[in-house]
Amino acid sequence: MDILEIIGKKRDKLELSRDEIFYFVENYTCGIVTDYQAAALVMAIYINGMSDREITDLTLAMANSGDVLDLSSLGDVVDKHSTGGVGDKVTLILMPLIASLGIPVAKMSGRGLGITGGTIDKLESIPGYNTSIDIETFMNNVKKHGISLMGQTLNLAPADKKLYALRDTINCTASIPLIASSIMSKKIAAGANKIVIDVTYGSGAFMKNIDDAKKLADIMTRIGRLANKETVCILTDMDKPLGFAVGNNLEVIEAIDVLKNRYIPKDVEEVILELGANMLILANKVNSIDDGKAMILENIKNGKGFEKLVELVSSQGGDVSYLEDTSKFKKAKFIKSIIASKSGRVLKLDANLVGKMSGYLGAGRIKKDDDIDVSVGFVFKKKNGDIVEKGDILGYIHGNDEDKVKIVLKQDLFIIG
Ligand code: URA
Repeated sequence: MDILEIIGKKRDKLELSRDEIFYFVENYTCGIVTDYQAAALVMAIYINGMSDREITDLTLAMANSGDVLDLSSLGDVVDKHSTGGVGDKVTLILMPLIASLGIPVAKMSGRGLGITGGTIDKLESIPGYNTSIDIETFMNNVKKHGISLMGQTLNLAPADKKLYALRDTINCTASIPLIASSIMSKKIAAGANKIVIDVTYGSGAFMKNIDDAKKLADIMTRIGRLANKETVCILTDMDKPLGFAVGNNLEVIEAIDVLKNRYIPKDVEEVILELGANMLILANKVNSIDDGKAMILENIKNGKGFEKLVELVSSQGGDVSYLEDTSKFKKAKFIKSIIASKSGRVLKLDANLVGKMSGYLGAGRIKKDDDIDVSVGFVFKKKNGDIVEKGDILGYIHGNDEDKVKIVLKQDLFIIG
């Protein structure tokens, strides 16, 4: 078999066989197929798509490119994943809440991708938090503390790790076959037997409309079934950033504030409760969505979710004093107000542009090995539907490069009508 023939077939809109897909994945994982060859194939998949059979084979090849964890000793483990969104800090809030309700959480998360941030980059903004733990520590932490959140550093779906980073740097993130295989390969390798997936749509998501989100949800549910995993997909609107904060440590601070019950942005609350209640149903903890939502709200109010976050961070080497006192988080040098240029109603806060500008300020990567700046991003004061007066502060830009902050200030992030 020959990688050039495989690239050529996909370029010419032909279907790849199972053997060809496995050949590509195996040889890319071990470095025989180069990044530039993989980039060509990924671009061809992005443009020409894949059949359901090809997507399933790609998922299985990626899932089996490394170890596949067996979590059966932990009982029913319910995993959660999101197709990503601007300001999406749901994992940071929801997983400690789920663990605080006695359901084991063993989750492998990703780094930022395209316009969206990643849980691992956010967790690493807590000084000392180790996302690269070994399997033994991961399993022991789940047994002892009921929760562990780690990055894709173990030998779990290593093909996805490489392809995910590659896609990010060649603008090939928003593709149904590539997202479905990326998420489901990780979920299969990470071993949970029940999975809830948040499939986002809108300007701040990879799927720009609900029909594409439904297609993505459908294929992931079918792959889950094939892999013997109960999979539920929830469609959520991501047309504006989720919550008020966008950027790595800014989102961590917002997540901590929610778990401390200081304030819960309405849209964050809706997503947390909907996904959480579905996880509790899958775990056989409740019989109805309403009971599930009530349980989750209760553990925000009584502080048990926050206590679990502290336990998680401490068990993975993080400095918990940052959770107690969020003013310790590194701050950007320049914090500039975004001012309303006229009175009216906020018709749109452009999530896509916010995601791009957040990356431009340094919260995302341009090259695979780029470092990210954990302190930059946005904290908004106003969102869609809010009435504003000319001169009101709509939000703040956090940046470390004054010139970049000036350029971001000139963008039309808000549309006021
Ligand atoms: N999350 C993933 O894990 N992979 C994608 O491709 C998109 C979101």
